[in-house]
Amino acid sequence: KASGPLAGRRVVITAGPTREPIDPVRYISNHSSGKMGYALAAAARAAGAEVVLVSGPVSIDAPVGVEVRGVMTAQDMLEETERAVNEGCDLFVATAAVADYRPDTCAGDKIKKSNKSMSLSLVRNPDTLATIAARDDAPFTVGFAAETRDIEHYALDKLTRKKLNMIVANDVSAPGLGFNSDNNAVTVFWPEGHESIGPGSKTVLAQRLIALIADQLTEKAGP
Ligand code: PMT
Repeated sequence: KASGPLAGRRVVITAGPTREPIDPVRYISNHSSGKMGYALAAAARAAGAEVVLVSGPVSIDAPVGVEVRGVMTAQDMLEETERAVNEGCDLFVATAAVADYRPDTCAGDKIKKSNKSMSLSLVRNPDTLATIAARDDAPFTVGFAAETRDIEHYALDKLTRKKLNMIVANDVSAPGLGFNSDNNAVTVFWPEGHESIGPGSKTVLAQRLIALIADQLTEKAGP
């Protein structure tokens, strides 16, 4: 039987980028490597949880003992996450860098170059984090906020607007931290407090984050 501060808890984590197709050979995406989400999944597993990792396309291995469910688009990520949460979920952590917009259509054939310029029409993608947090049976929900300026202001805005229990503010303007790096530095906010973690490796940072989350989860939901 598992032991640790998350023993008996079911955890769902999103990680990595999404890819939004333009035509059969092109897509819109971002620089997320999945490292932060995979490190959190490993730390949650080590803390005794049963972990499902809903992952966009990345090139890192699944942490031992963690179930990875691969997705491609933001729409896929929402559907797969809802499925995983419906199976039972005490804690949801959204580390994925989801594309906010997608091309409104995906061309059936490769788009040929003809004109000097071309425009893409984009439409809003669904927000997995906000959707899960808004459920009547919402799990303890932790969001990430990748910002390049006014980090605290935007992070606190997301905490209240998206009805989250905690938010992890990630300054992605500093070189060598955040997207596609082995290291990170974050400040975690919850309604009664905050704590800065790092700079340090995503592995060590994830362990501290999981310890903090487990404390808050126990306080809010009971053992
Ligand atoms: O993957 P790595 O290379 O290790 O990099 C890690 C990271 C920098 C991507 C990660 O630490 C991070 O900050 N993730 C959040 C990135 C992001 O896109 O943040 P955001 O401010 O756009 O989104 C806010 C929150 O809403 C996030 O929890 C995001 O997962 C969630 N979201 C956003 C849009 C959307 N359509 N659905 C969502 O669930």
